[in-house]
Amino acid sequence: MTIEPTTRVLEADTEAIAAAAACLARGGLVAFPTETVYGLGADATNGEAVARLYAAKGRPSFNPLIVHVPDRADAERLAVFDEAAGRLANAFWPGPLTLVLPKRSPSPISELATAGLDTFALRVPAHPVARDLLRAAGKPIVAPSANRSGHVSPTTAAHVLADLRGRVDLIVDGGPTTVGLESAIVACHDGRPRLLRPGAVAREAIERLLGLPLADGVSDKGADAPLAPGMLASHYAPRTPMRLEAEDVRAGEALLAFGEPLPRGARQARKVLNLSDKRDLVEAAANLFAHLRALDQTGAEAIAVMPVPRAGLGEAINDRLQRAAVR
Ligand code: TXA
Ligand code: MG
Repeated sequence: MTIEPTTRVLEADTEAIAAAAACLARGGLVAFPTETVYGLGADATNGEAVARLYAAKGRPSFNPLIVHVPDRADAERLAVFDEAAGRLANAFWPGPLTLVLPKRSPSPISELATAGLDTFALRVPAHPVARDLLRAAGKPIVAPSANRSGHVSPTTAAHVLADLRGRVDLIVDGGPTTVGLESAIVACHDGRPRLLRPGAVAREAIERLLGLPLADGVSDKGADAPLAPGMLASHYAPRTPMRLEAEDVRAGEALLAFGEPLPRGARQARKVLNLSDKRDLVEAAANLFAHLRALDQTGAEAIAVMPVPRAGLGEAINDRLQRAAVR
């Protein structure tokens, strides 16, 4: 499905929720209210829907996204909770706290949504419209704030429309959001809870509950700059060396292809995976992290990567390839 050129806005009622769930199931993009800000939702298990979401936001790189689920039980099916995470979820869910937790494997979540990381960010929103929609969708939903990249987060349906008209299929209008500030993000995956993004639950409230100070995870760009995943120590990179802009395949290499024809030497490659036979950047983005992982497991001496154009999602694809190539 392609993004419809028009964006429908529907008052949040039963019919709107059903229409929104159907749209998400088709791989569409739906903006909806949470108690913090409006989110731009896509089916977290559908890589192409997630790729379209990045394209709609105009994100220059694939930041990992927050996965939204309707309740704690769904969250526990997807992620591993340590003691601190369990206590935080008890105290603050549903609500404006996001937890970064280890993924259970196998995971139904698209590798693109989590930028190939072994952890992911999970949130159970409290807003009734968000919860109804998540239940109706019956799938985990990724939802960054529903604004163009670099713009401020939207707290009304009108803000969303101003930024994303023609780029999203449907906006569910549930009135202004109450909190207006994004969720706080706490990572609980290395035995040391960290505040990755200050947000709608205060640091003090979290520390009081845990009975210990939160380690810092904020970036050196200052307290309100979220720890950009590009700077995450755990940013996904294959163990196998990568050779970008490859125009041939050398002995012992695997090939990450983009379109056809394949370069010289491809027939001798340890393995060939094509990001998109038809040179479709949305399809390529959806396949990126999964293909890198698969090629990393071949035991090849290096992964040769064909050039990928820089237009549209190509910029983010190239950004990720370059980061993955740094050793
Ligand atoms: O209030 C909110 O959280 C809103 C509403 C719509 O739920 N959502 C939101 O999502 O702010 P987004 O995509 O704009 O913010 C996601 C943040 C990014 O800063 C990203 O780096 C971080 O979460 N993040 C996601 N997964 C992560 C991971 N595995 N490790 C570290 N940070 C992660
Ligand atoms: Mg945002």
